Amino acid sequence: MTVAVLSKHVPIQPTRRTRYGSFEVTPISPHIGAEVRGVDLSKPISEELMADIRAAWADWLVLAFRDQRLDREAHKAFGRRFGRLHVHPMHHGRPDQDPEILVVKTTAQSAYTAGEGWHTDVSCDPIPPMASMLYITETPECGGGDTLFANMYMAYEMLSPAMQDFLGGLTAVHDGALPYIGSYKSTPPEGGYPRSEHPVVTRHPDTGRRVLFVNSGFTTHIAGLHRWESRAILDMCFQLLQREPKLHCRVRWEPNTLTLWDNRCTQHQAVWDYYPYSRYGERVSILGDQPPTS
Ligand code: SIN
Repeated sequence: MTVAVLSKHVPIQPTRRTRYGSFEVTPISPHIGAEVRGVDLSKPISEELMADIRAAWADWLVLAFRDQRLDREAHKAFGRRFGRLHVHPMHHGRPDQDPEILVVKTTAQSAYTAGEGWHTDVSCDPIPPMASMLYITETPECGGGDTLFANMYMAYEMLSPAMQDFLGGLTAVHDGALPYIGSYKSTPPEGGYPRSEHPVVTRHPDTGRRVLFVNSGFTTHIAGLHRWESRAILDMCFQLLQREPKLHCRVRWEPNTLTLWDNRCTQHQAVWDYYPYSRYGERVSILGDQPPTS
């Protein structure tokens, strides 16, 4: 009998670049995240520049554009270059605010900071937002307030082939009530927050690569398993993310940084390590064009 030896290494993507036609990027970590300087997103963005941004985004999954000066219209206009803009399900409680802008503000008076726990944005939606772009204009005076991102292609690739096969046949429920009522104590809209079932392993629509698509922010259980089986499998997936720093990058915000991430193959987590100081930003998210598929 031959015993398969499972490798703990996932090789660097061979197609990954740092030079594109209109700019170069500086990697933040080897497997995810790159910093972009010298691109002004407030100016008209040519098709050529857009193609380079898309290529860099596909390579690095998370792009931090430094030194931006964007008003809300310019922020939304950049978002629209990727597709229609998403309206957050918690907008119903904030009718005075722009539906396409999610304010991300934390002060000494805040009961919570948005996204403090690994999650994929609004994965409870039947078609979750495919991308988000957070523009931070005020960073805490004491430092901190970073965002961690994780490469979920790589999380899938770190699993054994047997576990990949097992998870590949499953679907899981993602419920907006978990964060929005459970953590944020918000009042639900009429009919409740969205709740959707998605494959546990999805395929990125552009790259065709497989992704581990469960997150501790929204995923309540795996369909068709006993609750205790589901809990054990989900905890295994969540622990992989927490245990493996090589999946991560850490975006250290500077004021006027816009970070663009791909919700179809990443998760992220905000770090609230700056109490009682404040942090302010605004997020635009882009609608996906199809539900997650396996
Ligand atoms: C979010 O989940 O979009 C918020 C992330 C952050 O504030 O760093």
